Order: sequence, then structure tokens, then C-alpha cells
Amino acid sequence: MRDDEQEDRVTRRGFLGAAPSGLAAAGLLSTTAIGGQESAAKPNDPVTNNQSLDAENPDAIHPPATDAGGLPPFKYPYSLGEKFVLDGGWVREVTVREMAIAKTISSAQIRLSAGAIRELHWHSVSEWSFMLYGNTRITCIDSDGKSFVTDLKQGELWYFPAGMPHSLQGLGPDGSEFMLAFDDGNFSERETALLSEWMIHTPRDVIAKNFGLSDQVLQKMPTKPLVIFPSEVPGPLKDDQQAAAGVRGRSPVDYAFRTFEQPPTKSNKGGEVRIVDSKNFPVATRIAAAIVTVHPGGMRELHWHPNADEWQFFISGKGRQTVFATAGRARTMDFETGDVGYVPLGAPHYVENTGSADLRFLELFRSNLYQDVSLNEWLANTPPAVVAANLGIDKASLEKLPKVKPVFMPE
Ligand SMILES: [Fe+2]
Ligand SMILES: [Fe+2]
Repeated sequence: MRDDEQEDRVTRRGFLGAAPSGLAAAGLLSTTAIGGQESAAKPNDPVTNNQSLDAENPDAIHPPATDAGGLPPFKYPYSLGEKFVLDGGWVREVTVREMAIAKTISSAQIRLSAGAIRELHWHSVSEWSFMLYGNTRITCIDSDGKSFVTDLKQGELWYFPAGMPHSLQGLGPDGSEFMLAFDDGNFSERETALLSEWMIHTPRDVIAKNFGLSDQVLQKMPTKPLVIFPSEVPGPLKDDQQAAAGVRGRSPVDYAFRTFEQPPTKSNKGGEVRIVDSKNFPVATRIAAAIVTVHPGGMRELHWHPNADEWQFFISGKGRQTVFATAGRARTMDFETGDVGYVPLGAPHYVENTGSADLRFLELFRSNLYQDVSLNEWLANTPPAVVAANLGIDKASLEKLPKVKPVFMPE
């Protein structure tokens, strides 16, 4: 965060703003504000902790006075994720082991150099993936054994149903990097069923019998798991598609989604969102997504999700969100590039852009459909007298609220 941004945020929260001048000048007192009114002065912290982390988490240092109650953290930075470095790439992951609250979705960030292959494998969970950088060639077969091969670029995504085998390969000029998400918080990318490992643990004479080959031609099979390994950049896509189609032909199922070939689901002054779920990406029956951009000064409005927990990955920019978790508990946390966020089903929240550039992030849900409930829309579709009595806002002012969910404010 730039110094002037930090200063602005501190001032905006009222930190030191209205403290008795002598004490404030001595750095002994701070104040916080609720609804524009200063609360009682509170002591600041004369001991310096980790300055870099403090600067990235202004709401941890000076929480809004509305925070209360002891809510566990709902943020984990990928920067802290354990990295497995391999020849040709690397893997980092954030699962329920790193982030206790994230029970429905785990994730892995993978880098492949040009030509490197994430080996042929499958797993017991469904895989949803967003391209963060570069170009990847993906291969899969469908339940009829028909092949699917395509190339994806930054911003596009894929989905492989549980149990279906696939591979990934970095393309030119510089390979790729992507964010994988799985529909089980407990799943680890280390637990995939690898073709190499399966073969290592199958008697060699059985493999020979299975393929109808001699032992002689199996001598160069891997003797240790590959996971990711370097290889040559493949040739033209159509050649691979034709070769993989074999005698069965190509699959009619589309496992890829060309995100930016579709118009945004919603766009206004505050931001834009693209919803990708089984309505427009039929194969994605276990993970629904919203690809979100909040413009500077904008905010993803107050809302909650009635059908699933929300898993988030922050692609770029800076933002903050407050999660309200009933029983008087609420916590505000700050997010930036590489952070994972998590909001339980039914817990209200907003996401506010606190930086000077677009805030871009993914919202994922273990569901076939994206659903949210907008506070604005709920109130607009409830008898005004009831709303006025609940909120203490006069009916004339309530008339000015958005009638249809704005998704972002300002509209
Ligand atoms: Fe996979
Ligand atoms: Fe949300």
C-alpha cells in the first residue's frame, strides 16, 4: 500500500482524528467511528509487530468499531502456501489444513513451463480451473471414451468432472499458471491418481498382458511418480485433436469456457460480473462461479448466498470485506493479490475496493447454480411499512433504494 493510501485509510477510520490533542500527538490514544460519531478513545499499540503484514492489514490494526465477537480468520495468503518445486513447474495449495474454515473447496496454484506436462491423472473430486497467465493445452475423455483437446489462454477456464482422466501442458511462449479448485476442502493435489504411480504399483507382466505388448518395450516406463515433468512444446492444436479422436471421434461435451467471449452478466459504475454455472457451462455441475471486477470506489453490495459457502481468490487489486456471522460476531479483513477468502453459507458480507485500481476476484460455490440474496432487492420487495419500522428509515428515503439487485454500488 502506498503511504498516501495508508494515511488516507487511517484518517478515514478516524484513527487519532478526534482524540484529545495532547494525547493524540503523543500517540497514546486513538478513536473509532460508528455512523459518523466518534466512540470512546482507545489505546493504540506502541510496540511494532510485523510492519509489512500490518501495512497489508489495516483493518486488523484499526478494526471498525462495528467488528465484534471472535470470528475465526477467513483469509489465507497463497504466499504462505507450501510450494512443491518440480522439474518443469511447481504446485502450491490451500486446503482445509491451511485454512480451517474452508471445508467445501480446496485449491492449488500450478505453474507449468513451456512444454511441461501435468501428467495424465484423475481424482475423486471435480476440478474447476481459471487461467491466470499464459497458455495451456488440456486433454480429457468423456464418459463414452471420446476425446477432448483444446488450448486455453489467460482468463479462460475448464472443468473436469470427478473421476475423468485428464492432462495439462504449458504452451509457448512461456508456459502457464492457473488456479485449480476442487469441490472438497479436504482434497490435496498430492492425492491425485497418477498414471505413472499406478503403473509403478502394477506387476510388469500384468501391464504387458493388458497392453498386449512384450516386457521388452516396457523397460523405459517411469520408476518414480512424474506429477509434473518437462517436455517439448506440442504442435498445432488440430493435429492433437485429430490424433486423440482415434476411432471414437471427438467428444460433444465442452470442458472449456471462453469467459471473455461472453458479455458480462451485470455491469455498472461500481463493477462487473460474469456468472459461470451449469446454466451456461453445462458440464460444471459441482462448482458455480462468479468472476468479479470491482472498480475503484465501488463495492460488491451487501448480500449473502443461500445455497453454498463462498470461496474466493483475489487476482489483483486491494479490497476489504466484513463478514457478519450472527450472535453479535463480525470481522473485517483486508485482501489483495494471491489471497484466498472464505464466507460461510448464509453469512452476510460486502467486498469494497480500497485501492486505486480494479479489484478482481473469483467467487466459487460448491453448487450447480450461482445464487445470492441482495439486501437492496430484499428490502425493495418487502412492504415499505415493515422495512421502515425495522430500519427507522422514512418511506420517502426507502423509495430511493435500488429496486433490482445492483450487485455493485454505485449503480
Ligand atoms: Fe486434475
Ligand atoms: Fe458473496
